[in-house]
Amino acid sequence: MPTPLDRKPTMIGEWWQVFAIYQVYPRSFQDSNHDGTGDLQGIISRLAHFIELGVGTIWLSPVFTSPMADFGYDISDYRGIDPLFGTMHDFHELLAACHSAGLKVLLDLVPNHTSAQHPWFLESRMALNNPKRDWFLWRDPSPGGGPPNNWISQFGGSGWEYDVKTGQYYYHTFLKEQPDLNWHNPEVREAIHDVMRFWLEHGVDGFRADAIWYLLKDEQFRNNPQNPNFRPGEPPQQALIPLYTADHPDIHAIIRGMRRVVDEFPKRVLLGEIYLPIERIMAYYGRDLDGTHFPFNFSLLETKWEARVIARLISEYEAALPRGGWPNWVLGNHDRPRIATRVGPDQARIAAMLLLTLRGTPTIYYGDEIGLVNVPIEPSQVQDPFEKNVPGLGLGRDGVRTPMQWDATANAGFTSAQPWLPVSDDYETRNVGCQRDDPATIYNLYRRLIATRRQRLSLSIGCYRPIAAAGDLLLFVRQHEDERTLVALNFGSEPLAASFAQPLQGQILMSTFTDRASEAVNGEVSLRPHEGLMIDVAIGSEIPPSTI
Ligand code: GLC
Repeated sequence: MPTPLDRKPTMIGEWWQVFAIYQVYPRSFQDSNHDGTGDLQGIISRLAHFIELGVGTIWLSPVFTSPMADFGYDISDYRGIDPLFGTMHDFHELLAACHSAGLKVLLDLVPNHTSAQHPWFLESRMALNNPKRDWFLWRDPSPGGGPPNNWISQFGGSGWEYDVKTGQYYYHTFLKEQPDLNWHNPEVREAIHDVMRFWLEHGVDGFRADAIWYLLKDEQFRNNPQNPNFRPGEPPQQALIPLYTADHPDIHAIIRGMRRVVDEFPKRVLLGEIYLPIERIMAYYGRDLDGTHFPFNFSLLETKWEARVIARLISEYEAALPRGGWPNWVLGNHDRPRIATRVGPDQARIAAMLLLTLRGTPTIYYGDEIGLVNVPIEPSQVQDPFEKNVPGLGLGRDGVRTPMQWDATANAGFTSAQPWLPVSDDYETRNVGCQRDDPATIYNLYRRLIATRRQRLSLSIGCYRPIAAAGDLLLFVRQHEDERTLVALNFGSEPLAASFAQPLQGQILMSTFTDRASEAVNGEVSLRPHEGLMIDVAIGSEIPPSTI
């Protein structure tokens, strides 16, 4: 089997900069033991998929021992593999198989909270003077009774849960089954550092650290201010401004500590999940680039799908990056609507070209490569605790976590049992097997895009230069030495032409459709509805400002 490295003999840049990341949601990737839920052996059996697609890094959402109140983001043993997913032996087998295929493996590190079933919390809740009491955030009731302050949970309701045995409340950013660790406590920091070392010693290539902008809370437990822009009917977690519960000024010292642990091992990475405005996520690179290798850039997840808006967003992000800070782009994940649903099937192809031509590490969410959509979930099928706590607002995440669609057999080849979430109705026509054989499918578009990115240093490590954005047209250039790739994207359903002050000379490398490769460009660039093009600009040809 050719490895990603074989296909790119001269790699410039670190692996985490050059390889596309592929997020696997293990519950939904491939079932191997007929229980309707995906598992590690299932992932092993699908390894050829990563190679065929061309991604170089896989990130596994949590596979650790968990009561599954939040589907693995509530961990009761950081060092164990949950039996639902398999055994430690299976994990080693997966890691070894990935490594021998040239793939890197990232684990999900969940440092903000444990499961309420974690032995640390079980101890902590036993008595006021338990040595682990201060490992979590315990407070007396407020003087008039009731929760200590107004902090709310991200999953609805108060963030405080009363514990009868000791007469105090504990704080949980998410579910009450996910008590928050107290990161002000050095023992907690050491304990999580040891967990990190445990997995790094096992050979994992790094972590995606979950919810790390929440790690520290105000030591005075001050009330969060009301959000003056909040309107009834909006997600309840937006009712307050999380001034005292998120993005604490001392958080960077904590992340620096985690980075130091990662740096004890050669060539490992720490990536951070941080939902904050662009200018605030930048601090998570660390003052001396000693924080996360990069905080995920979620700006494409929420943007209006318009050429000018996206051009501005890219420029703002590029401008805000710290010197030497490596960018990255994300189109989807297990918490947010699917890109194909958000922008429609035609624009999902434009989104794919955008993701794989922008400067920075691209992250692909499983299933997006075949254009999976948000799957409608009947009330009786709801699994997500977020939807159960806050029903009816469309916040549920089940629809983006449905089984991967491999082929046209029952349950899309995901399982022979009843799947834990329904398979999308379109599985007989939307699956890897049938898309593989048709060059026009989004799956083959992703493959070509990833392959082209691997072949061209301008795309993998080159600089970014905006050219124009007007109406539905977005034009930018990526350049490394004298290799230049012009990217032209049509965000609309009308044909477009970009003309230049002096005629542009070059050759089309690929279209989001299947034709036009090798077509000469001499003058203007024409785009069909919903078409994206990559153009190799001839050496010597200027790229003058577009007059559109
Ligand atoms: C992160 C995860 C999300 C989870 C939450 C609590 O945001 O991505 O799925 O529910 O943290 O751990």
